[in-house]
Amino acid sequence: MEIQWLGHSAVRLEAAGKNLLIDPYLSANPLAPPGAVEALQDIDLILVSHGHDDHVGDTVDLAGRHGAQVVAIAEICSWLGAQGVENCLSMNIGGTATLDGLSISMVRAVHSSSTRRDGMPIYLGECTGFVIKAEGQAVYHAGDTDVFSDMALIQKIHAPTVGLLPIGGHFTMSPETAALACNEFLELDIVVPMHFATFPVLAPDASEFSAAVKRGRVEVLSPGGSLTL
Ligand code: NI
Ligand code: MN
Repeated sequence: MEIQWLGHSAVRLEAAGKNLLIDPYLSANPLAPPGAVEALQDIDLILVSHGHDDHVGDTVDLAGRHGAQVVAIAEICSWLGAQGVENCLSMNIGGTATLDGLSISMVRAVHSSSTRRDGMPIYLGECTGFVIKAEGQAVYHAGDTDVFSDMALIQKIHAPTVGLLPIGGHFTMSPETAALACNEFLELDIVVPMHFATFPVLAPDASEFSAAVKRGRVEVLSPGGSLTL
């Protein structure tokens, strides 16, 4: 399995011969490697954690271009359908789908989810995270979230060994509270920090987070960098 971080919460995961994207915020992402959209090949699945622009990103374009199957909560599938995305698997929190040999579970996140039309918010259901299982590995992508003690329940049910966690603060967990999630509620072997340094309001780097994590090895990737499991 290969996990490639494309900056912010955008992740490409290659496993079981399939290519999966999570929260593909690329063309407008200040951290994405140049040409990130064009570099993608044969995307099979796109997982969208919630409706904010910095997570939906290029989903509509990429789903069309690659004929990829999108996976999201019901409200986001309806909204994407109105934009011409034909193949969206609607799920909800607690559910698991098996697609292309990958098991995808939708899990809770503590955050909001909406988009805007004419300056007004449109509700897009709950914010979510995902646990993806393939090749004997289980990877937790937390979406945008604060720390919550039921992360321990996600750990108990899905036993992730790798976690991609937002650490930037302001909109999500901070370096300190993301470390608390690792030390108190999750039991990850490898932790990849995300959702930092993209905007001035976020933590500028992962040093404070890395120093505070006592349980699990922190792997700080550069945008475009990857981890092979
Ligand atoms: Ni968000
Ligand atoms: Mn976000």
